Order: sequence, then structure tokens, then C-alpha cells
Amino acid sequence: MKAAEIRQTFLKFFESKGHQIVASSPVVPGDDPTLLFTNAGMNQFKDVFLGFDKRAYTRATTSQKCIRAGGKHNDLDNVGYTARHHTFFEMLGNFSFGDYFKHDAISYAWELLTKHFMLPAEKLWVTVYAEDDEAFDIWNKVVGVPAERIVRIGDNKGGRYMSDNFWMMGDTGPCGPCTEIFYDHGPEIAGGPPGSPDEDGDRYIEIWNNVFMQFNRTEDGVMHKLPKPSVDTGMGLERLAAVLQHVHSNYEIDTFVGLLAAAKAAVDGAGAQDCDKDSASLKVIADHIRACSFTIVDGVIPGNEGRGYVLRRIARRAIRHGYKLGARTPFFHKIVAELVQQMGDAYPELRQAQARVTEVLKQEEERFFQTIANGMEILEAALASGAKQIDGETAFKLHDTYGFPVDLTGDVCRERGVTVDQAGFEAAMNRQREQARAAGKFKMAQGLEYQGQPTAFHGYDHLVCETSVVTAVYVDGVAVAEAKAGDDAVIVLDHTPFYAESGGQVGDSGELRNNSSRFAVEDTLKIQADVFGHHGRVLEGAIKAGDVFVARVNAEARAKTVRNHSATHLMHKALREVLGAHVQQKGSLVNAERTRFDFAHNAPLSAAEVKRVEAIVNAEILANAGAKAEVMALDDAQKSGAMMLFGEKYGETVRVLSIGSSKELCGGTHVKATGDIGLFKVVAEGGVAAGVRRIEAVTGDNALAYLQSLESTVQAVAGTLKAAPAELESRVHAVLDQLRALEKELGAAKSKLASAQGDELLTQAVDVKGIKVLAATLVGADAKTLRETMDKLKDKLKTAAIVLAAVDGDKVQLAAGVTADSVGKLKAGELVNFVAQQVGGKGGGKPDLAMAGGTDAKALPQALAGVQAWVAGKL
Ligand code: ALA
Repeated sequence: MKAAEIRQTFLKFFESKGHQIVASSPVVPGDDPTLLFTNAGMNQFKDVFLGFDKRAYTRATTSQKCIRAGGKHNDLDNVGYTARHHTFFEMLGNFSFGDYFKHDAISYAWELLTKHFMLPAEKLWVTVYAEDDEAFDIWNKVVGVPAERIVRIGDNKGGRYMSDNFWMMGDTGPCGPCTEIFYDHGPEIAGGPPGSPDEDGDRYIEIWNNVFMQFNRTEDGVMHKLPKPSVDTGMGLERLAAVLQHVHSNYEIDTFVGLLAAAKAAVDGAGAQDCDKDSASLKVIADHIRACSFTIVDGVIPGNEGRGYVLRRIARRAIRHGYKLGARTPFFHKIVAELVQQMGDAYPELRQAQARVTEVLKQEEERFFQTIANGMEILEAALASGAKQIDGETAFKLHDTYGFPVDLTGDVCRERGVTVDQAGFEAAMNRQREQARAAGKFKMAQGLEYQGQPTAFHGYDHLVCETSVVTAVYVDGVAVAEAKAGDDAVIVLDHTPFYAESGGQVGDSGELRNNSSRFAVEDTLKIQADVFGHHGRVLEGAIKAGDVFVARVNAEARAKTVRNHSATHLMHKALREVLGAHVQQKGSLVNAERTRFDFAHNAPLSAAEVKRVEAIVNAEILANAGAKAEVMALDDAQKSGAMMLFGEKYGETVRVLSIGSSKELCGGTHVKATGDIGLFKVVAEGGVAAGVRRIEAVTGDNALAYLQSLESTVQAVAGTLKAAPAELESRVHAVLDQLRALEKELGAAKSKLASAQGDELLTQAVDVKGIKVLAATLVGADAKTLRETMDKLKDKLKTAAIVLAAVDGDKVQLAAGVTADSVGKLKAGELVNFVAQQVGGKGGGKPDLAMAGGTDAKALPQALAGVQAWVAGKL
């Protein structure tokens, strides 16, 4: 059975049991800061398990794209060393949200494995959480698995609930005891059953994990009961395919055969001489191309932090394995085509992004191939020393200068039985981090505890609510009975016209007011998905739960903000039109001043491109088309062609905002018609990271103010230059030409003056024991003139020691020269320092010419006067 059929059979089986087939979510989870990458099928349902979100169904089944290369579940280091680990894999899962529980979950699993996939019952083993008698009994008494093939596993990982049979999504989130199903690959393969000392062998392989979700673990480690016991299961498609295709290693299944061949061809084509087709390095490459491609599909670009850095680590690890096989030029991106062939049908977003994925990887390869050879040389040299550990400084240097992530260095070392001094590496990293600390701080979530009713948002249509009721009051981060005048507080209302910061749009400001009290709202932020906190200060009276207020949004700030928000949509659309469909939103900030929009694109925008974007957006504004928001099912939104952000997690129903020719999922507030934007002007464009550009623009009265201020500047400059604005450009060029000509003349005049002074100085030279000694100041000279004059004086005086100085304010420049016939007795460097020390400086040079600087011009005359005596003393 091919992998594609296995995927289909699984989904169809659960569909027949009343499950909704739900599409895989992106590998980049949009709004879950606890997760680096989607690491399990249940991630997209996290809020449903926690009871924060509701779906139209209580049973679901998915084939989920997963990445386990960072965070709690990280298999990166194992890839290439075992038959069954991957950075990217597909997880088949079935889910019950408070619907069925242990009994049905276990029965379904057994039925599917033994009746549909036809696995022999005697080859299956199961594990249960040691305390879970219920699961044990279902396996034993209902399903009929003999007790000797059911293994109880307790807290075997060093703490309460720390167990192979207790699954947690991360350090926080839904979790619960689980039961795992193992397949026995047969006695010819080494390894023992689960729970035995040699369980890590490849004989007994876990294929399916059924988790009985019962708790939410919070940061403090406390286990809170979930509203309803639920089920979350996960079966690695690749492992199951290995079993069903009667191969031992995941890398022998149909999906990988093509990828391995493509990897070999690409590596050979890049300089390897017919590399070994069974090499573990090819497996690493075939695995890593999947992880890299799918992360890029979801908008990640190789970078130095967060997800971008994980992507870079995986990509560079693959490239290094190619290098090891003999590749000397970029090869990795060439495998994307085969991957699209293999998986493009199941995941159309991959096919759609093929060109972009290839390009992003190619650029990363080109970058790394510039340093990999030198880095490998350094690493090889360190390894050649025979030491059993690479020191932290070397690992850091490889990281910092040659772009070797430390796990890549570790990967090479491991092949030679050498380790890396991680602590030393961390220390070196920390040193560097301290210096970079100032950059980038995250706005911390407020973390207020709230249990009341949600806030109804009325702010799409209203800027004032007459009877908003206070449901909670917080001061200093804790709920209080009452906030008094002068307190900085957070107020929650039952309904509000205030927009809470989200989707890049800042929160509203404004005022809450009633007969006795007044509260200035400075910002509005979400406490939970639909609970809005109004942050600000009590100006008069007091505020407590139950109070009724007139809530009034600052209309002017809101109007400016919506103009910028609507313009952002039109600009996004225009950027795609001008630059191409690869333009994807990477981030945005919309406030009353401007819109700032980050997007994926590899090159700076030309002036002409910026002008086209401006022209397109302003044409949309002039057309004055209406804006329309519709709430619809996610599927319908997708079908309507609305733009969605990769990596964003959307609920079942979404809000689609159509404005002008743009159609985008958006919860923000907008103008009524494009004409309301008034005028759109780009004010800045630049790069923020590799492959990410940032554009900033202003609208409406801000755009007018911007243009007026530019105009004022132009007029002021024109006035100063006494030219009409239209002639300003030619006038500036003329002034600059004039300036250059004057500079040249001045230079010539200076050196003339200096050489004239030089002639005069000849007479001041004094004979000291056969050597002419001269120490003098040249008026208006620079370093070049000092040197030129020095040469002339040496020529004329023949046997001499000379010090020349130039003064500019407090600063002193010095040149000391000794003619060739005297350098045996006097050194120019010593001479110049004799003077320099007295004027607060230091210098150096050759025996016949040395230069120095100083900062104390007042001391110069006396220092120069001492030169004769100094020379005399040396002779
Ligand atoms: N979420 C469970 C796992 O990933 C099923 O193993």
C-alpha cells in the first residue's frame, strides 16, 4: 500500500465513524507563542481541547504536516542515525472533543489496524500509563490483547507525570495519559519490547499514540482538569508505511525512494563522484528537504533567530552532508522538484510555492557555500589534534564567522566520536548576546486572570456605546473591587466600541465617562481572545464592577488608523501586482501615524516600483469603491480567493474584508469606501532581514502633512540658494561643482604656501654636532603637506633631523624626519614621540619618517624648542 493510499484509508475510516476530515494546518502555528512549529495533529485544536474554542463537529480526523526540530519534541539530532526519525513527517490523527473516550478510541484503533490495514494481532504490543487500569482492561478484556503484551509504564522520566505514557504538547497546554501501539518487526532485528532495557532497538517500533486528554498544564506546573475528557491520537504515516510495505526503515518506503534518487543525482551533479547510494548522508538530505520546503511554504525564511534559525540549521546540516559526499556547489534546492512530484497532490500549497522554495534554498546554499570550505578546514584542524572535545571558542568561531550552527558542528564531531564543549559555546554566545541585548523586546501579554462574560465588540459600526457595563477592574495586574482616581487600571466591559490590538492594528484610545467618574483609555489590549482590557487612568471618581459608562473612542485617532489599515490592504495587493505573488505579509503595524508592512521579497524596491505601487493604490482610492465585510465559513472564504496569511490560525468562520480590488481575511476596522483614504504616499522602504522588506506609508491628512513638510524644506532650500524650486536641481549641481573647484584651488594654494614656508625655514636650521636640526610649525598645513615639505627640506639640508608641526585648534599633527645618512644615530620614531608625548599624543613610523598626533597645541612651542637639546643628547 502506497503512502498516499494509507493516508486516504485512514481519513476515510474515521470519516465512516462520524469524523470530519479537516485539512492540515500550516507547520508554522500562527498565534501560539508556546510553539515553534506544529509538532502534532492536535495543535490546531488546542483551544478546542481547552474549551476556548468550539467547532461545528466533536470528532475530527487529519493528516497533519509536523516538524520536530526544536522545542519539546526535537528529533533533529537523530535523523540519519535511526531508521525512523524525521524532522518533517505526516501525522495521522483522530480527535474527540468531549465526545468518545478511551473505549472507542482503543476499539477504533484496533479495528483499523487489524481489519483494514490487516496487521496480524500477534505482532502488536501496547503500553498503558501505569495507573490507567481502565485502558489496561479495555485492551485486555474488550479487545483481547493478552496481558503479557500489555506493558504498564509509569513516571519513568524523572517526575510526576513525566512518562513515555503521559503526553504533553509542550511545557504548557493540554496533556494526559496515553496508550501506545507497537509493531514487532521480528526477531531478526535487535531490540526489546517497550519498557525493557533494550527498548531503543529497532525491533519494536511505536506506530500509534492514543492520548486521553484530561488536563491543561499551566506554567506553574499545575494540572487543571479539562472541561471534558477528550481524545488525541497520532500515527506517523512514514512508520506505518514501512510496516505495510514490509520494509524495515522509513527511508525505504515509496515516498523516500524517489527523494533519495533525486538527492543522489543532485549531489553527484554538484561534484560528488558517484556517491554511495546507501549513505546515511543521503537520508539526512532526503529528510531535510521536506522540513525545509514545508517551512518555507509557510513563509519562514532562513535567518538568525526563531523559526528562521531552525530552518537555517536544518538546511545547513543537509548542505554539509552533501559537502561530505563531495558536493562543492549548490545542489539542495534541486531536489525540490522531486518533492513536489511526491507530495504536491496531497499538499497543493507546496506545488504553488515551488519556485519560491527553490529560490530561497538556492540563496541559502550560495551563502553557505562561501564559508563552508574554510569552516570545514578549521574544524578538521581542530579534530586532527586528537582531542576528544572541541572547545567552545572554536565552536563559537565556526558559528559566528563561518555560519556553522553548533548542532552542525556537533553532527560532524559525532561522526568522529568527538563531543563539543556546549557550556563553553554557550558562554561565548552569551558574551555576544549581552552586547546585542538592546535589540528587540517583545510586548508582554498582560496575563490577567478573567473568568466573566466575554466582551462584545460593537466598534465596527459604532464609536460610542452608551451603556457599557464594567465586568472587571484590575490595578497592578490583579483584580480589585474598585479603582480610584489616580489609579492606572485595566477595565473590562461587557460590550465596547474600542478595538483591541490585533492583526497589526493598534488598540483604540478614548474615554469612559458617567455622572461621577471618568477614565482615560490609553490603549486597548486583549486579555483573552474575546475579552478586551481598556488600559488607562482613572481621572475622576472611582470604578467598580457593575458601573455603567458611556464608552467613547477617540474618533480622530481611529479615523486615521482605519485609513492606514485599509491602505495596507490595497498596498499589499499592489505589491503583489508589481513584484509578484511571492510577496507575502510577514508582519504589519497600523496606527494613527502610518502603516508599516513587512513582506517576503529578495531585493530593494526600485524608485519606479515604489511609484507604481503608489499609482495603483491612489487609483483605487480615486475609484472610491465601497468596503464590505462578510462573515463566512473558512472554506467559502478560501473558495472566494480571499488572501489568507500562511501560519495564521483561523476559526471555522472568518471575516472577509473586500475593499477595492482587494479581498483579505481581516478582523480590523476599515473605511467605508476607498475614497475616505484621501491620499496614499510611501515614505520609506528598506530591508529588515534576509528576504524581508519593510515599506512604510502614510495616508489622508498625514500624507498631506508629509508632502507639505517636504515642500517647506524645498522652499527653504530654494530661498537660501536664491533659485526657484524648479531650478533647484541644476542650482545644487552648479554649487557643488563650484565647491569642488574651490577645494582644488585651495589645495594647490596650501601646498604652495607650505613650500614657500619650507624655503624660509631652511635658514632656521641649526648645526648640532654636524647634523642640521630644524623644528618648526607650518601654518595651514595638513598631513600631506607636512610630508611633502619634509621631503624637500631633507633634500636641501642633506644631513638633518627635522620636526614639522601643524596646528588645528587644540589638535597637533607632527612629522619627524631623519636623513638616510643619520638614521644610524637618530630614529625618526623616537624623535616624533619625544615631541608627541609633550603634546598629549603618540605616534610611530619608519626610521627616516614618522608621524604623530597630539591634543595639546599650547605645549607645542616648548616641545619644539627642546628638539635641539634632545638631538644633541643622542649624539
Ligand atoms: N499528540 C500525540 C502525539 O503527538 C498523539 O504523540
